[in-house]
Amino acid sequence: MSPAYLERTDRIVCRCLRVYESDVVEAVETSQLDSLREVIRQTGAGSGCTACHHRICEYLARSGAST
Ligand code: FES
Repeated sequence: MSPAYLERTDRIVCRCLRVYESDVVEAVETSQLDSLREVIRQTGAGSGCTACHHRICEYLARSGAST
């Protein structure tokens, strides 16, 4: 278990893979990802039950991707 000062404060986007919002947003922006498939491949988010796909698509839409 990590110490409290190392705990993350942003929310988990993908519970299956325990991927955080900041990881997805950073991947979308820095790697200029423009599809759900690319986000899954790069971050792992969305490769389980698929319940988080709509949230991932929201991040992509905000970045200007066509999804
Ligand atoms: S919550 Fe993301 S794949 Fe299940």
